[in-house]
Amino acid sequence: MLAEVEIDYSWSFNECSPKDTSYITHGYYTYPAKFIPQLASRLIKENSQKGQVVADPFMGSGTTIVESLVNQRIGIGTDINEIAFLVAQVKTTPLPSLKLAETFIQLEKDLKKRLFAEKEYFLQKAFDKLHLHEKIDYWFKPAQKENLAILLYSILEIQEDALRRFFLVAFAQILKTCSIWLQKSVKPTRDLQKKDYDVLQTFLQHAKKMIQKNDEFCKLLSPSYLENIENYRIIACEDARKMPCNDESIDLIVTSPPYVTSYEYADLHQLPLYWLGYLQELADFRQKFIGSAYKVREKRNLHSSLACEIVAKLGNNKKGREVEHYFADMYEVFKEMHRILKPQAKTCIVIGNTNFKGIDILNAEVFIEQLQNLGFKVFDVIKREIPSKMLPSTRDSKTGQFTKIDDANLTLVYPTEYILIFQKL
Ligand SMILES: C[S@@+](CC[C@H](N)C(=O)[O-])C[C@H]1O[C@@H](n2cnc3c(N)ncnc32)[C@H](O)[C@@H]1O
Repeated sequence: MLAEVEIDYSWSFNECSPKDTSYITHGYYTYPAKFIPQLASRLIKENSQKGQVVADPFMGSGTTIVESLVNQRIGIGTDINEIAFLVAQVKTTPLPSLKLAETFIQLEKDLKKRLFAEKEYFLQKAFDKLHLHEKIDYWFKPAQKENLAILLYSILEIQEDALRRFFLVAFAQILKTCSIWLQKSVKPTRDLQKKDYDVLQTFLQHAKKMIQKNDEFCKLLSPSYLENIENYRIIACEDARKMPCNDESIDLIVTSPPYVTSYEYADLHQLPLYWLGYLQELADFRQKFIGSAYKVREKRNLHSSLACEIVAKLGNNKKGREVEHYFADMYEVFKEMHRILKPQAKTCIVIGNTNFKGIDILNAEVFIEQLQNLGFKVFDVIKREIPSKMLPSTRDSKTGQFTKIDDANLTLVYPTEYILIFQKL
């Protein structure tokens, strides 16, 4: 049914430059698989009114929540990833310019001493306090690790929570650049030839950019939002199946769920997770994420005959069980969406179909069946092109592995995606 839907090019946002898509606080952090703010904004404006409540159960870096705030809605979001929660918190918190500038100047002054003349003393203090994970040595050269440890130690000394978190996001953003993670790769790949970036300069440059973006964000917010943002935003580091909302309290949901057979979110976020002390054992941590291949298995009800067919085609193996688990988890999230939405309210779900070793994984069609079973009707289906998204875009049709775009023998993954709009009956 969806194969016949024509692409609606007005949803490609081809005219948007990287500067546009990283405007205001959207440029704070490169969050893998985030959607562009223009997409969230249009969905919010077309499907809700000022003052209404918009939720995103998979908020990631908080794109939907930021756009809800600048469009004078109330934003509510959850994400299971601590890094997503930190970034979303910072991206949705307008800070007073003067205080931010003063904290920056003091931090810069401290760092210029601590990273040079007083290095030995502060290095000892930093290592004593931070208890860094051994995996950091796998990703960082010793000199880079030392400078980053002093930087983190200095940021953690900032007393005021919101200011400290702001600079922690700047710290998290430069980790990939200052590590030996292959710069152009989203997936964890080491580049032993990578040049060393100057930790201090990279950090100061990004923090300055964030300070400017905070000012731009403040200008877009209305005065009551600036005065007390907490009245307009609730975010939590929580499972999407436990949204912090009362029954029938939400006017609109705008979300892009995790993908299955794609990549492990925990692995992609490991650098800030290790540095900020959220991660001890990667194998355990992965299991929290919907779509992970590392789940404990038991037979699940999928509430979709198509989902059962896809799982049967994949077979009784690891991949089949991974996809089965994914569809069962997503059904539970949809149930939670149904609980929190007001009657007649809409939910917009951005999702792509994919293919694993020649078997179509029709996420969009399965979601439609599951949501219809729950008491939603399809309101609209939009097919859009994804001009540039931080997703691996090709998969080798024989091995099923993601490969470089210029390799032969490829099946495209997520070249287009759907925006499914449902209405609660
Ligand atoms: C496609 S991303 C969303 C990106 C987001 N739209 C943005 O613009 O940043 C999907 C998100 O689902 C989150 N996720 C995975 N399993 C989850 C769960 N059980 N509960 C809540 N969030 C989860 C991942 O951490 C990831 O941030």
